[in-house]
Amino acid sequence: MSYELLPTSDPSQRDNASSPSNDRSDTKSTKSIRTHPLVKLIFTRLLIAFVVMYLVFSGLRSLSRSTSRFAWSSGVCSACHRNGSLKAGLSTLPSHFDLPSGDKIPSVALGVWKSKPGEVGAAVKTALKTGYRHIDDAWIYRNEKEVGQAIRESGVPRQDIWLTSKLWNSFHAPEDIEPALDESLNNLGTEYLDLYLIHWPIAFKKGGSGPIAFKKGGSGYDKELTENPYPTWQKLEEMVERGKVRNIGLSKIQNLTANPLKIKPAALQVELSYWNPQPDLVKWAKENNLPVEAYSPLGGDKQVKETLQLPVVKKIANYLGMTRAQVIISWHIQRGTIVLPKSVTPSRVVDNFQVAALPDDLFTELEEAAVSHKPFRTVNPSKDWDLDFDIFDD
Ligand SMILES: NC(=O)c1ccc[n+]([C@@H]2O[C@H](COP(=O)([O-])OP(=O)(O)OC[C@H]3O[C@@H](n4cnc5c(N)ncnc54)[C@H](OP(=O)(O)O)[C@@H]3O)[C@@H](O)[C@H]2O)c1
Repeated sequence: MSYELLPTSDPSQRDNASSPSNDRSDTKSTKSIRTHPLVKLIFTRLLIAFVVMYLVFSGLRSLSRSTSRFAWSSGVCSACHRNGSLKAGLSTLPSHFDLPSGDKIPSVALGVWKSKPGEVGAAVKTALKTGYRHIDDAWIYRNEKEVGQAIRESGVPRQDIWLTSKLWNSFHAPEDIEPALDESLNNLGTEYLDLYLIHWPIAFKKGGSGPIAFKKGGSGYDKELTENPYPTWQKLEEMVERGKVRNIGLSKIQNLTANPLKIKPAALQVELSYWNPQPDLVKWAKENNLPVEAYSPLGGDKQVKETLQLPVVKKIANYLGMTRAQVIISWHIQRGTIVLPKSVTPSRVVDNFQVAALPDDLFTELEEAAVSHKPFRTVNPSKDWDLDFDIFDD
């Protein structure tokens, strides 16, 4: 606003301020012009026009903010909980979940299934540099050595990283568990695991064609140990007591309820995605204080493209200015589950870590879309393993 439009009761003072030279004749002529009724009218109209323009402009600005609620400004994010790359406007998501043991498990992990040799180490290093502190591995992924080396070379202290591995189906017999665990510990170059899961609720028979005897015509499964995994669990409890693992848990469901457990399962890892959202299982686990981990959260390599093409995902991503993968990964955490996206593509590894809470209405829209179609799994090896039943029985 220019000085001349400022209303003041003492025009002489105003003029003095604008005219340090104190030229009296100048001041006089200015005074006479300003007191002219026509000039007064023009000033008043200009003032009104200015106020109206200001109101219209601020109205438009707040309207545009509400239609693009999260049209993020540049700068560091105060709302997102991680590395500040998402811009301000969205609420945070929990960076950790509590386990019954009292440990805190980071809510986003880098999954490394199918991450090939020569790629997985770089992906782990990118992840740790980005801020991930959780790696989800397994003996059967055949990449524990490279993962372990990448962790050591990353410079991130081992105790700052949550490391999960899994007991393969060939080693459920109690006498096989410690050697299998030791092999994973050696591969990863660590003295302990944060979480050791029973990978599948299936115990393979011993003496088949090698440790991965699961192809058709393989050794089949051990019915007794599959139906009653308690001896396997007891041995795992011993591994906790001996300090080789901090927490033990299950992958897919495994019935242990008939037995008195010294240590309750710390976590349950299951397939959860838009295609297979399992709302009842998630609810049940919550009610039973059993943290759930979402594997194949993007739909796995078979379904990821379709997931990222879903209209509801595209719409939310556009609206919030997030990537489509970020929308899905955030949705998982918002459902209360730990999420394990896999990628060996550096930009995606970085991208997948930047999560933020979806506004309630958009979260509900995505949840409703996910639970309203016929669910299907992307991972079910029952036929490959020549089982005479379906592992998931659904
Ligand atoms: N307990 C179990 O039995 C079990 C079973 C399955 C999985 N898991 C765990 O869960 C993890 C994740 O599951 P998953 O590997 O099946 O599937 P996923 O994480 O749902 O999907 C991985 C696929 O998505 C692609 N991708 C990742 N981020 C992307 C992005 N931002 N944009 C576009 N594409 C993207 C990856 O490609 P690129 O790698 O080429 O980038 C890969 O093809 C596994 O790695 C494993 O740790 C456990």
